Amino acid sequence: MSAITKQNYRGAYHFSPKEKWMNDPNGLVYFEGEYHLFFQHHPGGMTMGDMHWGHAVSKDLVTWEELPIALVPDELGMIFSGSAVVDWNNTTGFFEDQPGLVAIFTHHLDMPEGQPAVQRQSLAYSKDKGRTWTKYEGNPVLEHDTFIDFRDPKVFWNKEKSRWVMIVACGQTVGLYHSPDLINWTFASEFGEGIGSHDGVWECPDLFQLAVDGTKSDTKWVMLVSIGADPAFEEGSRTQYFTGDFDGAVFTPDEESRSIRWLDHGRDNYAGVSWSDLPEEDGRRLFIGWMSNWMYAGQTPAEGFRGAMTIPRELYLELRNGQTTLIQKPAKELEAARTPVLSLKNVSVQEINAACAKLHLEAYVIEAEVAHGTSAGFKVKAGAKQQTMVGIDAQTEELYVDRTASGKHDFHKLFPGRHSAKLAAPGTAYDLHIYVDRSSVEAFCGGGQAVITDLIFPESESTGLAAFADNEEDLFLSLDIYNLASST
Ligand code: FRU
Repeated sequence: MSAITKQNYRGAYHFSPKEKWMNDPNGLVYFEGEYHLFFQHHPGGMTMGDMHWGHAVSKDLVTWEELPIALVPDELGMIFSGSAVVDWNNTTGFFEDQPGLVAIFTHHLDMPEGQPAVQRQSLAYSKDKGRTWTKYEGNPVLEHDTFIDFRDPKVFWNKEKSRWVMIVACGQTVGLYHSPDLINWTFASEFGEGIGSHDGVWECPDLFQLAVDGTKSDTKWVMLVSIGADPAFEEGSRTQYFTGDFDGAVFTPDEESRSIRWLDHGRDNYAGVSWSDLPEEDGRRLFIGWMSNWMYAGQTPAEGFRGAMTIPRELYLELRNGQTTLIQKPAKELEAARTPVLSLKNVSVQEINAACAKLHLEAYVIEAEVAHGTSAGFKVKAGAKQQTMVGIDAQTEELYVDRTASGKHDFHKLFPGRHSAKLAAPGTAYDLHIYVDRSSVEAFCGGGQAVITDLIFPESESTGLAAFADNEEDLFLSLDIYNLASST
């Protein structure tokens, strides 16, 4: 079997393109029973290049159907990242009797040698559930005289003001604009000077409102901002978040200082944004990220395709240690797709390992509980001299993923490493949920407060799974293991 057809690294329940290069998720929108996932796609190459919008749809967030390419480059340039909305009230005038989809994206135009590229915001619309698209003849709809990096518009309908709002990356800040019709935009404010991480250019922002601790009366706004990989910043691309208030024009952060809050403490959750237009009765804020890092994205082992998305996640705000904290939980739809393999209560490491020795799982979920104060975890994708360690360090009260011996890692010197996330206010037990797929681990602890997303490239025969703890006699309060695979 050739490496191309064997596909050791294609996730069983993560979206990846059939062929060639993929980066950011784009145009996340729910419409008529389908979750749309557009994505940055170079259909002619295995690295970033001539960017298009690829397209996939799902009814259950687990099984994805890849559709023909949605947006192709034109005389205004390549199609960079952006968002999509349902124009329910035909504010654009693009639609007649049925609401349709509008994509708001960056046109990136390379200029002759020595001149900076030009980035401007444009529109395209679809009257057939995203299957075919027409670019607006008045493109671009928004440009800027001074910003060279002016991209990744995320648009939403601001109910209070009855108008559209756009948040767009401007160098190392974000710009906020508003519009009655998606075509004419008015500048409202700029945010980012002197706050947060400035270790790279700001990219792929998002802005949305969430209930705090589930109380509808207490809400906050969340701003996501991805930080592009600056060669001087060894962690590469990461996503930070701010919480605060938004009055329809200006975002006022809770944070006063330069304290930085990362969405994810692994290295492979970048450019993530949230879905638009979920039905009100659903009430969730769903998120997906690109599971890679510009530091090494173009060098990861590849098999005819390169790039995958994280699992879809639900975002919440909870008060932890007095701070409004962004919480991520795997989308509940993943539960419907899993099948139980093992369920144990009050078991020792030895007992777990006797049971796990018989398993040869490729793509699975571990849900474990260990008593507070016990350092414990799992070796996943273990084989000859290979393993990825995912665990809790009770001394430092941290969740960690150690991928130093996870398999192929010599493609970049900064790929191997151990990544950790502080646990805020751990309770009487640690809850450790680990999503393992053929080339990734996503670990959640503290009810989704500490999250680590990391790519791994193990040998296909490395299917070993074992538990570990301070002492072999230490008990896991509970352990459930599930197989997880999409139906395709
Ligand atoms: C983020 C990003 C965006 C840009 C796109 C190009 O990963 O750099 O800012 O629009 O990728 O593919």
